[in-house]
Amino acid sequence: MENKRSSFSNTLGFVLAAAGSAVGLGNLWRFPYLAAKYGGGIFILVYLILAVTLGFTLMITEIAIGRRTGLSAINAFQKLDKRFGIIGYLACAASFIITPYYCVIGGWVVKYLITFLTGNVVAAAEEEYYNGFITGSAEPILWFGVFVLFTAVVVMIGVEKGIERASCVLMPVLIVLTVAIALYCVTRPGAMEGVKYYLLPDFSRFSATTVLAAMGQLFYSMSLAMGTMITYGSYMKKEDNLEKSVRQIELFDTALAILAGFMIVPSVFVFSGGNEEALGKGPSLMFVTMPKVFENMKFGSIIGTVFFLLVLFAALTSSISLMETNVSIVCDKWGWSRKRTTALTTVYVLIMGAVISLGYGSLNFIRILGMGLLDFFDFISNSILMPVIGILTCISIGFFIKPQVVYDEVEINGEFKVKRFYTVMLKWIAPVCLILIVLFAVAEAAGWIQV
Ligand code: TRP
Repeated sequence: MENKRSSFSNTLGFVLAAAGSAVGLGNLWRFPYLAAKYGGGIFILVYLILAVTLGFTLMITEIAIGRRTGLSAINAFQKLDKRFGIIGYLACAASFIITPYYCVIGGWVVKYLITFLTGNVVAAAEEEYYNGFITGSAEPILWFGVFVLFTAVVVMIGVEKGIERASCVLMPVLIVLTVAIALYCVTRPGAMEGVKYYLLPDFSRFSATTVLAAMGQLFYSMSLAMGTMITYGSYMKKEDNLEKSVRQIELFDTALAILAGFMIVPSVFVFSGGNEEALGKGPSLMFVTMPKVFENMKFGSIIGTVFFLLVLFAALTSSISLMETNVSIVCDKWGWSRKRTTALTTVYVLIMGAVISLGYGSLNFIRILGMGLLDFFDFISNSILMPVIGILTCISIGFFIKPQVVYDEVEINGEFKVKRFYTVMLKWIAPVCLILIVLFAVAEAAGWIQV
């Protein structure tokens, strides 16, 4: 006998859970540095345009597929059309690849939160502290394990009591903390220069790479093309308004990304005396530059603690959605219980994650395409699998399964306001944009272009 599928209890629960998935390290760490790197306001503008066009199209498609079939990625595609089960398998592969390394970074966040809580602000501001930590063996794996266990417990408890409840507590706190810190940061002496740098468009920096970088960021930030939104859609009630919910999730995600920039860009700008290079440093922006900024800021140890707390909340709700994607695919496909599946997934994540974590330390001789383990997995999942899944989703729904399934699902809750626009986006514009992303990623990896 099949169990009745769980669901989120109402629209707010659904929107907060989906926003919880979307808002994560992508918003808090990646968006600000990309915005700073690609010309400030111009990047933000391009991103906003893409969010309401491309992001909207893919997100509404995925959530509609999920709700329509009541299934997670593999079974959902198989149910719509046997031939397209492969898309579900690719999404499954991608989410199994992302989950372990996302949790490794989650473990770093736990470590920094503890460091700030215990008052080691000065130590944390040293470059050596970060390098020493990530290249270690036991310590990063320990904090990673703590992070994974938190995630697993919530997933094991289930959709409504676990995921929804966690999101309904963590997301409001996250917003309040983010707004508070952003306000504090932009009112520091000299911060306005940084705000200008962040917001004023520098048109001279506008190029195709700006658009492509924004597109890649968009997909990652909105948790698209990995089956996550299909899974969450499958827990959405038929009476909740789909089109409106998608707009709310997007607004949430984008607002938090922009706010994160207000926390980070002006502070780093002031700290580094207007030196833009400080912003473009990849992972070390959050774990090296920000601690330095806090060390020099009034009440820095408190602000730093709160900052890492909010990063932790954001990362947790995202890792929960990633693990849930894996678990729901396995449960649907093989009919295993949630408990058993979560336990086995956790073991898998722990083993893979430990290996990836060691990739910075004792296993750092392993290089694939010139990348370390974490970067390699990030590249495969985000730069290759994600756009490929996106392209296949658009083409399969647009031309074979037909967009009517999405219309029907959206129209359960009233008129589909932007139906024509949606159809053109789905069939033509989105696939072309996604093909460009793949080409771009390959060219970058091969060293033909420099970003
Ligand atoms: N969107 C999250 C972030 O911004 C990461 C994430 C969670 C994700 N689930 C996902 C990314 C599914 C891609 C697919 O950090």
